[in-house]
Amino acid sequence: MIYENYSQKYEAQVITLWNRCCIFDAIEVQKFRRQALFDDNFDPCLAWVALEGDQVMGFAYGTKRKFPYLERGLEPQRGWVNVIFVDPQARRQGVAGELLSRIEGSLAEAGARTITLGAYSPSYFFAGVDPENYPEAVSFFEGCGYVAGDTHYSMGKNLHGFRVPSQTEERRAGLEERGYRFVPFDYSRALQVLDFLQRELGAGWKRNALISMREDTAPDLMLLVIDPQGDVCGWCMRAIDGNPMRFGPIGNRGEGAQQRDRLGAPRPLLLRDVS
Ligand SMILES: CC(C)(COP(=O)(O)OP(=O)(O)OC[C@H]1O[C@@H](n2cnc3c(N)ncnc32)[C@H](O)[C@@H]1OP(=O)(O)O)[C@@H](O)C(=O)NCCC(=O)NCCS
Repeated sequence: MIYENYSQKYEAQVITLWNRCCIFDAIEVQKFRRQALFDDNFDPCLAWVALEGDQVMGFAYGTKRKFPYLERGLEPQRGWVNVIFVDPQARRQGVAGELLSRIEGSLAEAGARTITLGAYSPSYFFAGVDPENYPEAVSFFEGCGYVAGDTHYSMGKNLHGFRVPSQTEERRAGLEERGYRFVPFDYSRALQVLDFLQRELGAGWKRNALISMREDTAPDLMLLVIDPQGDVCGWCMRAIDGNPMRFGPIGNRGEGAQQRDRLGAPRPLLLRDVS
C-alpha cells in the first residue's frame, strides 16, 4: 500500500469509495467540495489516500484551524479527524491506522492537544461516530486511544398528512394571550437576532443566521418568538444546509450553548488527548 496526500485526480474515486464505506452518510461530489475542499481550513497535507497502484483503497482527512471561527477563535489546541474509511477488501491490514497516525502526527506538530472525531464546526459530515451503523469504527478508534464524549441523537418525523395538534394550538394561544408572538424573521430584527444567537446559543448558530441573512433566505427559513417586552426569546431555522427537509437548530433563551441540532444516529463524540 502506498500513501499519498490527496489531490484532485482522486476525487471521483474518493467519492465512490466514501459511498461504499459510509453507506449511512452517502454524499455527492458537490457536498464534498463545498464542505471539505472549499472549507477555509482545508489543507491537502492533512488529507491522505491509501493506494494500490492507481486504485484508492482508503481516505482520511483532518483539520486544524487557520482562520478564527467567530468567538471560538483558532482553538489552537484542537484538531479534528473529519472522516476516515477503507475499502472492505483492504480492512484489518493496518491501513486506517496508518492514515490516522499520519493525520495525528501533523495535528500534534501543529499544536493540537486533543483530537475530535467529526463534529468540526461549521462543516461537519459526522457529529461523531455512530455505534449502530459503524461499530467497527468504534472498535478502531477505541483501540487507537480515543474515548467517548457527549452523545448526539438523530430525530426525524414523517410529515405526510401532518396537522398541528390541538394541544399545540392551545398552548400557542395561551402564550399569545400572555403577550408572546410567533413571527417570521424580518430584517428590522436582524441585529437583535444575531445578538440573541451569539449570547444565548453560540457562534455556530449566529453564523448560520448570518449566512441566511446574506443570501436573503432568512425571512423564509427563520421563525422567531418575541417575548412580552419585545425581545427575541426563541429562534428556529430550517434548511441550514440547503436540504429543505432539514429542521433545526431550535433554541430558546436560557438554554445556554446547548446545541439542539439533530444529525445522524446516536453518535458519541470520540476524543483523543495527544498532548
Ligand atoms: C473503521 C475502519 C476505517 C477501520 O479500517 P481498517 O483499515 O480495517 O483498520 P485497521 O486495520 O487499521 O485496524 C486497526 C485496529 O482497529 C481495530 N479494528 C478495526 N476494525 C475492527 C473491527 N471490524 N472489529 C474490531 N476491531 C477492529 C482492531 O484493533 C485493529 O487491529 P487488528 O486488526 O490488529 O486487530 C473501516 O472499518 C471502515 O472504513 N469502516 C467504515 C467507515 C467508517 O466507519 N468510518 C468511520 C466513520 S468516519
